[in-house]
Amino acid sequence: MRPKFSLFQSHLDLAHDLWARCIFPGDTVVDATLGNGYDSLFLSKLALKDDSGKFYAFDIQKKAHIASQERLKAELSPSKYSRISFHEICHSRIGEVVPANSAKLIVYNLGYLPGEDKSLTTQSESTLLSLTSSLSLISPGGLISITCYPGHEAGLIEEERLVAFCAELDPKVWNVSSHRFLNRRLHPHLLLLQKAL
Ligand SMILES: C[S@@+](CC[C@H](N)C(=O)[O-])C[C@H]1O[C@@H](n2cnc3c(N)ncnc32)[C@H](O)[C@@H]1O
Repeated sequence: MRPKFSLFQSHLDLAHDLWARCIFPGDTVVDATLGNGYDSLFLSKLALKDDSGKFYAFDIQKKAHIASQERLKAELSPSKYSRISFHEICHSRIGEVVPANSAKLIVYNLGYLPGEDKSLTTQSESTLLSLTSSLSLISPGGLISITCYPGHEAGLIEEERLVAFCAELDPKVWNVSSHRFLNRRLHPHLLLLQKAL
């Protein structure tokens, strides 16, 4: 069946296009919200080679790590899988793990695990702490991609605070763009922050 909208149907289609243009085999990539591992699978296939590339994955929930590790192990070669390091900690601690200026792409897909406990959602305070660290972990020319979900209460607050934070970033260092469907207010909102070369 032909897609209803031919350029891109969703924030995810657009994000995938941009991620694929940004990452090359051998790059370092971070998934700050691992969840069920779908984003990590897409990204690790782009970034990892058998002998180079590095992938860091963060999530506070054991359940997310178990599901994702199963998925990634089944889909990747053992040497690529061994290049992924999993961290069952809050992504506000990202700076303790990822070296400065090393990551080509850091991805936040905010919110909660679909079908699971909605109280275990990302929170604006820790997301902002994490984003502040991420600014110095990204390499020149690299990208931070954040998908916000304003359709639930905590997500709406998080989106508003992130937009306010991003709007103040120095334009000499950061090119910040925002993509949302203007006629679908509660749909996901994609924020993209590229660091200058
Ligand atoms: C929308 S899901 C991510 C979807 C995922 N990227 C995928 O491809 O399936 C959001 C995830 O963020 C996690 N999360 C919530 N608070 C977090 C925090 N402070 N640090 C890291 N992960 C967190 C949740 O446990 C949940 O798994």
